[in-house]
Amino acid sequence: MSRDPRALFLSACAALLLAACNSDQAPADTGSEDANAPAAAGEVNLYTTREPGLIQPLLDAFTERSGIRVNTVFLKDGLMERLAAEGANSQADVLMTVDTGNLLDVVEAGHAQPVESEVLEAAIPAHLRGDDGQWFTLSLRDRVLYAHKDLALDAFAYEDLADPRWKGKVCIRSGQHPYNTSLFAAMIAHHGAEYTEQWLRGVKANLARKAAGGDRDVARDILAGICDIGIANAYYVGRMKNAEPGSEQHQWGEAIKVIRPVFSTDGGGTHVNISGAAVARHAPNRDNAVALMEYLVSDEAQSLYARANYEYPVKAGVELDPVVASFGPLQVDALPLTEVVRNRREASVLVDKVGFDN
Ligand SMILES: [Fe+2]
Repeated sequence: MSRDPRALFLSACAALLLAACNSDQAPADTGSEDANAPAAAGEVNLYTTREPGLIQPLLDAFTERSGIRVNTVFLKDGLMERLAAEGANSQADVLMTVDTGNLLDVVEAGHAQPVESEVLEAAIPAHLRGDDGQWFTLSLRDRVLYAHKDLALDAFAYEDLADPRWKGKVCIRSGQHPYNTSLFAAMIAHHGAEYTEQWLRGVKANLARKAAGGDRDVARDILAGICDIGIANAYYVGRMKNAEPGSEQHQWGEAIKVIRPVFSTDGGGTHVNISGAAVARHAPNRDNAVALMEYLVSDEAQSLYARANYEYPVKAGVELDPVVASFGPLQVDALPLTEVVRNRREASVLVDKVGFDN
């Protein structure tokens, strides 16, 4: 990575300016050990549910370019509880999560604040961020079809999963897993609950085995001849195909091809879940929080971030991981994610109603 000395000089100046602007701010009481840096210029406190190893290279690059130090609080679970407990004393500046529902839960609980940023608005399509600037998608996790590599099939609609043509040929994890309730919620948004209930009954009737296990087990079971097709997240294929040659995972990955299904409605595209971020409501370093978010949608960060986990960049035109690129273009479903999230509970009720996991 080359660096432009003028850019570094300018960002150092920016950091100094921020220091001057914020010098009258008393260091706030941190109330936590791991975000123990006082609120001051030149820092930003990131609360994240993402694995630290995944995002650290990005944060290092941000610090190098901006001079802003990132204090990371990694919370595998309990982000909401932590924010509620900290209240107005929270040192959190940026909140980063995986899953649309998790991110919107944070926003709906009042832990985020609106941000107006031309950079964020230009990089992120409108249906993948809050209207009020309270949350922003950073990467896409498309839910796709895994198919046996020799199967004569090159396009698919999610609706087709219920087609009797696939009787005894479909593998999928539990219908109650958030990856699936999110997909089923999108089906409700496109076609309504009645249609979705019948569709779920059809998919259930097509299952080759109990709806259980993980997404990678779909590839494993296709290799084993148990099923021909299944639904799973695309990034696992990046992990499997890049696994050590000869390893089980690699064999699973090599047994399948990826088809990005679409909803067969007007403007229907591929269902995505997301990773995303919000600026915390009481952010002591608000400007730095926005600077970090804006960095995360830069071409450089988008490419690094997406490649780290084989996710898909939210910003168009960014360089893709070669395996991800091999799946072809991603046409993201046009439904606003807020609409999908609204139907999650109903989707979960339908899963039980049709006995999907039994
Ligand atoms: Fe996952």
